[in-house]
Amino acid sequence: MTTPADSSTVPLRAAVAALPAYVPGARPTQGAKLWKLSSNENPYPPLPSVLEAITRAAEETNRYPDMYATELVEALAAHVGVPAEQVVVGNGSVAVLGHVLQAVVEHGDEVVFPWRSFEAYPIVVAVAGGAAVTVPVAADGRLDLTAMAAAVTPRTRVVMVCTPNNPTGPVVHADELETFLAAVPRDVLVIVDEAYLEFVRDPQAPDGLDLLRRHPNVVLLRTLSKAYGLAGLRVGYAVAEPRLAAGIRAVSTPFGVNHVAQRAALASLEPVAQGELRQRVDALVAERDRVTTALREQGWELPETHANFVWFPLGDAAVERAAEATAAGVLVRPFAGDGLRVSIGEVEANDAFLAVAATWRP
Ligand SMILES: Cc1ncc(COP(=O)(O)O)c(C=O)c1O
Repeated sequence: MTTPADSSTVPLRAAVAALPAYVPGARPTQGAKLWKLSSNENPYPPLPSVLEAITRAAEETNRYPDMYATELVEALAAHVGVPAEQVVVGNGSVAVLGHVLQAVVEHGDEVVFPWRSFEAYPIVVAVAGGAAVTVPVAADGRLDLTAMAAAVTPRTRVVMVCTPNNPTGPVVHADELETFLAAVPRDVLVIVDEAYLEFVRDPQAPDGLDLLRRHPNVVLLRTLSKAYGLAGLRVGYAVAEPRLAAGIRAVSTPFGVNHVAQRAALASLEPVAQGELRQRVDALVAERDRVTTALREQGWELPETHANFVWFPLGDAAVERAAEATAAGVLVRPFAGDGLRVSIGEVEANDAFLAVAATWRP
């Protein structure tokens, strides 16, 4: 093995040198028996029909994938009810988000987003050359859309709305999003990140596609990582008006969705798989309701979650509590000084976590 004699003097871009690290959810070390509730994943393994598509596709991986993921784009477009020209796929919605920003952000443009929210936001904004403008999430874990609208200046190019918000859990309501969109100039892009859409049961939640029809400056961001259980294969997509979609497609990584992922996603969109996936999502939502009810009975007052996770605003105690949970066999995700996010997993995993939470009773 050769090692460089010295580190290079090649300067990194200032924005890159200053990037915050993306901290992924903890993973169990080999052989350790730990429940993994640290990454907002789906605890169910792939459906048999999806696994079969994956196996078949694996035999063809000497070939490049379809660069434009034509079949998948068409299937996703049919699934959401828009023409195929309005759908852009990528290697997980986090990659698609990066492409959306690269398509519209000029160096130094302001990008407004809530905080705390999805931890990739500050990274993708900086990589795209944007200037982050963060707006605090309210004490109840809800986005403050009034403050976010007030944060828009003539230098703002993009606003990101995460609903449900990761890691706090609540959704924005249709009426407040409508008021927000009316206040934001038409040439400011509003990215509505709906990564957890399928878990939402709040009747006041917005209908993203309806918004997009009436507000062409809206882009919807969706993923097959959460409800569809394909986190390990990386498939996400944006839905946008055709001109914006073409711009996003133009900056996307060539062959950005691999062949196995394309076939697995297509199998997941088949009617039979859709029914099975819906049942799994319903089971996870029921489990979320069981967990939140049990936590309330323990005395917790937590933000109302419509995603597959629960947020504990524990402030400075977050890291220590996470270590206690690990010691009790459950991996959770601390955000230092802020809080603890616990994903909804298998019934046994949730029970193990509830036993830990009981020892922290507020
Ligand atoms: C709000 C939000 N958006 C986007 C993503 C990215 O998901 P993926 O890149 O797996 O599609 C996540 C993942 O945790 C998320 O929480």
